[in-house]
Amino acid sequence: MEIIICKTKEEASRKAADLVAALLKAKPKAVLGLATGSTPVPLYQALIKDCAAGKISFKQAKSWNLDEYWGLAPTHDQSYRYFMDTNLFDHVDIVKKNTHVLNGLAKDWRKEVKAYEAAIAKAGGIDLQVLGIGSDGHIAFNEPGSSLASRTRLVSLTPQTVKDNSRFFKKAADVPKQALSMGVSSIMEAKRIVLLAFGANKADAVKGAVEGGVSQFCTASALQMHPDCWFFCDAAAAAKLKLKKYYAWRAEEALKAELA
Ligand code: PGA
Repeated sequence: MEIIICKTKEEASRKAADLVAALLKAKPKAVLGLATGSTPVPLYQALIKDCAAGKISFKQAKSWNLDEYWGLAPTHDQSYRYFMDTNLFDHVDIVKKNTHVLNGLAKDWRKEVKAYEAAIAKAGGIDLQVLGIGSDGHIAFNEPGSSLASRTRLVSLTPQTVKDNSRFFKKAADVPKQALSMGVSSIMEAKRIVLLAFGANKADAVKGAVEGGVSQFCTASALQMHPDCWFFCDAAAAAKLKLKKYYAWRAEEALKAELA
């Protein structure tokens, strides 16, 4: 695990974007795992800028998203399909049919998740997975108590996540309470993980994920077992880490070597 601590989320996102850009340059047919939420927005903005400047291209890339609200149509302005279109896909040269988001209106969710996992495997697996982290330490919608061996499935959100997400909906009652989500072990299959965490309300989650025990009560802690995992944090999200100085000393070299 490499922990990159930056002053601001913009600086952290720029560095994370450099890793994505390096992948796209080395492997134009890269398979990207993408995330929604407020956290990856500055990363997507940096990638949109790079694409507009001709530095990177998504033309041959494919993407799969982590999750989707159960019961929301792709056209709903709070669906994750809508989020991806408006925050990234509509602004870069990716071919829309190569972008995949779980169908929150699938007739049979079991068939939907099976086909989704099979399609990722057929594409060769995810090269780089972008992740946010919930204030309770969740990755995708793998809430505390989700098995670390979990696969893509229908899940129930915790009251805390429903509350966190209610800021995006007109009424709290409109927030879906279930979602289709990639499982922890599905996420762990990505060749590289890039997790972003910003703000003081993520400090406990980051502390648990990086320096706590590996536990299903903080599903991001499973990432401690991943061979190529990068955390990009702002100062507030990293505030509770014990070994901050060590991470900073180590990470600068690691990132330099990666982007050389
Ligand atoms: P956020 O959500 O980016 O909106 O804070 C992160 C998450 O729940 O994974």
